[in-house]
Amino acid sequence: MFGRRRHYDHVLRVLGLFGMGFALFLFARYFLIPADFGVYGFYRAGALDDVKAQAPVYAGETLCLDCHSDIGELRQEGLHANVRCESCHGPLAQHASGDFDAKPDALNPRRLCLQCHATQIGLPVSHPNVVAVDHAGDMVCTDCHLPHRPGFN
Ligand code: HEC
Ligand code: HEC
Ligand code: HEC
Ligand code: HEC
Repeated sequence: MFGRRRHYDHVLRVLGLFGMGFALFLFARYFLIPADFGVYGFYRAGALDDVKAQAPVYAGETLCLDCHSDIGELRQEGLHANVRCESCHGPLAQHASGDFDAKPDALNPRRLCLQCHATQIGLPVSHPNVVAVDHAGDMVCTDCHLPHRPGFN
């Protein structure tokens, strides 16, 4: 014969299961969390070194201007004066380090220009913008505008 069951036995069993689950969680957590987690804050301290070890992909335009000063001067004359080289040409650290086999990608001017100049809701009213088909039909923007000095005066 079984002994008399206490009426709260089922609660103890659920609590026991819960306790086992929690112990398993602590056990797994102990192995999964890297030792340097939380040294500085809610992240892995070693992540800083991992990021530092990556080679930068952007050169910064001071370097570009060392070799392409003519384009820098042309750009200075127009409203693209403050648009950085790599905003349009993409990351070019490898090219700027003197590795000219790393040719800058050919650009698709129409797509590039419209990223910043297509009329759209939310654009500041002062920002020059156009509706491409009305303004240019299917012509390429650089047929009329110089990319480095886009205005006409
Ligand atoms: C060490 C000098 C040097 C630096 C720094 C440099 N370039 Fe150049 N770049 C060149 C030379 C030389 C060419 C011409 C290569 C050729 O005609 O094959 C060139 C060509 C280019 C071209 C034209 C490629 C083509 O297909 O005709 C672009 C665009 C360009 N560079 C952008 C940049 C940008 C943007 C930067 C800065 C991130 C930069 N360059 C930094 C020397 C440099
Ligand atoms: C507003 C976008 C934009 C900016 C900003 C820009 N470029 Fe360009 N660049 C172009 C486009 C478009 C071409 C046309 C070439 C093509 O179709 O690939 C071009 C062509 C070039 C070329 C090769 C042909 C030429 O005109 O001599 C070089 C070199 C170049 N850019 C360097 C630079 C440098 C250096 C800077 C920064 C001082 C810069 N660009 C800034 C869009 C831009
Ligand atoms: C057939 C020549 C031509 C072509 C192609 C062309 N434009 Fe223009 N664009 C002009 C002229 C001329 C002006 C100055 C007069 C004006 O505001 O309409 C101008 C002005 C602009 C302005 C200034 C508008 C303002 O309100 O200040 C922007 C931005 C512009 N163009 C962008 C583009 C873009 C982007 C393309 C490619 C989709 C392009 N353009 C193609 C001739 C052209
Ligand atoms: C990364 C964003 C960006 C790209 C890409 C870009 N522009 Fe601009 N553009 C600007 C900014 C910013 C201004 C200046 C706005 C101001 O100061 O009012 C400007 C101004 C202009 C103007 C007015 C110039 C004047 O003197 O009235 C024209 C035209 C223009 N861009 C054409 C082009 C063309 C053509 C291309 C493609 C080759 C292009 N833009 C690509 C950001 C961009």
